Amino acid sequence: MASFEEIAARPLKPALLELDGISRASVEAHYRLYQGYVAKRNEILGKLAAVDLTAANQVFSDIRALKVDLTFAIGGVKNHEVYFEHLGGSGGDPTGAFRALIDRDFGSPGAWRDDLKATGIAARGWAWTVYDWDERRLFNVIGDAQNTFPLWNATPLVALDVYEHAYFLDYQTDRASYIDAFFANLDWDVVNGWLEAYRVPR
Ligand SMILES: [Fe+2]
Repeated sequence: MASFEEIAARPLKPALLELDGISRASVEAHYRLYQGYVAKRNEILGKLAAVDLTAANQVFSDIRALKVDLTFAIGGVKNHEVYFEHLGGSGGDPTGAFRALIDRDFGSPGAWRDDLKATGIAARGWAWTVYDWDERRLFNVIGDAQNTFPLWNATPLVALDVYEHAYFLDYQTDRASYIDAFFANLDWDVVNGWLEAYRVPR
């Protein structure tokens, strides 16, 4: 029986309600979805604490269903915490240590942005810029859901949510314009703070 502690949703930063091109209504609805992921993470871990381990079965069993959907719930928590935390800035080209990594691994901010935008257009849920600790470099990674397809031992530094809930209210099906708005609201100080906190080598 695994022990666990409940977590609470992180508060929404006030700057998130005044984004450029992503409406307050859109962000507030999106934040409620994030709260839902937090609640389901807590609920699933509570059920796992009492699950019958002897009934484990790969076709169907409570432990299987709970563990599969736990990855979706925790993915939803982690993805949205990166997403909300690094919005609220003034966008533009990356600065500081992140800019240096972008230049080294993609050649230029434009090449990085084009690649991440195309990855986001090709995705059904997420596109991330991650630092891969084994390859020791940045990659833009595609995701179709909250729990696909992260790389082991890689840390997300930019998380672009391309689920329709992120943009349909503001852009209907025009995902490309939403992605442009996403880039215009990134806060590079937040991303550089993560590089510092995680001690990503320069
Ligand atoms: Fe989302």
